[in-house]
Amino acid sequence: MKKSGQRSNRVVIIGTGAVGATTAYTLFLRERVSELVLIDANHDKALGEALDMNHGMPFTGGVKLWAGDYSDCADADIIIIAAGSNQRPGETRIDLLKRNASIFDSIIQNIVKYNNHGIILVATNPVDILSYVSLKKSGFPVSRVIGSGTLLDSARFRYLIGQNKKINPRSIHAHIVGEHGDSELPLWSLANVAGIGLEFTDEEREDIFDRTKNAAYEIINAKGATSYAIALALDRIVVSILQDEGSVLNVSTLLENYNGVSDVYLGVPCIVDSSGVRQVLDLELNDEELARFKASADKLKEQIASLDL
Ligand code: LAC
Repeated sequence: MKKSGQRSNRVVIIGTGAVGATTAYTLFLRERVSELVLIDANHDKALGEALDMNHGMPFTGGVKLWAGDYSDCADADIIIIAAGSNQRPGETRIDLLKRNASIFDSIIQNIVKYNNHGIILVATNPVDILSYVSLKKSGFPVSRVIGSGTLLDSARFRYLIGQNKKINPRSIHAHIVGEHGDSELPLWSLANVAGIGLEFTDEEREDIFDRTKNAAYEIINAKGATSYAIALALDRIVVSILQDEGSVLNVSTLLENYNGVSDVYLGVPCIVDSSGVRQVLDLELNDEELARFKASADKLKEQIASLDL
């Protein structure tokens, strides 16, 4: 993806489990970056992933990829955090909070030891809360601490609406906002194709949203973890940053007096460019949507309050 004459860029991925390794492979295959560094507490795992991808170099292109350590964060434009436990069957994302928050102390300390200019992109769940933790512990500006948010949920929502309407999901604009988790909410009032609102029966709405919200549980029960669509969502965010696109993406960012919500990370439409989150877009929520949005915020704030930040 690097255009001739363009300065080289570097993405570091911390955690080479299902999400981290698949994201690495996605960025590698699509040649999104000049340099890709894999870091894992189990260095052999990172080494194995790097070797396995590098052996495919003759079939792909010029991404320089290696298993490294935190000193490699020094020149990183983006540092993706995908380290930690993922959900076991029946576990909620919030159930992962204590386990995963406990490793973020050292991860963030190690990042800021070498880098104070890059963008931290959090994928580890519960992603909204751990993005908030990353902001507080890194001292980075809000714009440069981003969570994958409800970008993946919105993609699932668009896919399922596309199946229902027999329209390509790339032509469907539809948003899931709030927690990347069980309290997320669909903005049916804004769903549209070419600016034309979409109509659904109550049963269709219930089915589409239920399958959107519970997609991860279904996939985890079937194959043990999710990886492909979250990797593509992270790829989308990385490209919008590195190419200074200014795309509108439902990432997780810190909200301040947003529809009456403050001091919490939630997924909302944001303009994402080389500065990170350049602007949060105001949403016109109807009464029901506003109530659910605030409930989502309250749920996460309660969890944040339980942490020693
Ligand atoms: C999912 C994980 C990334 O929703 O939370 O697939």
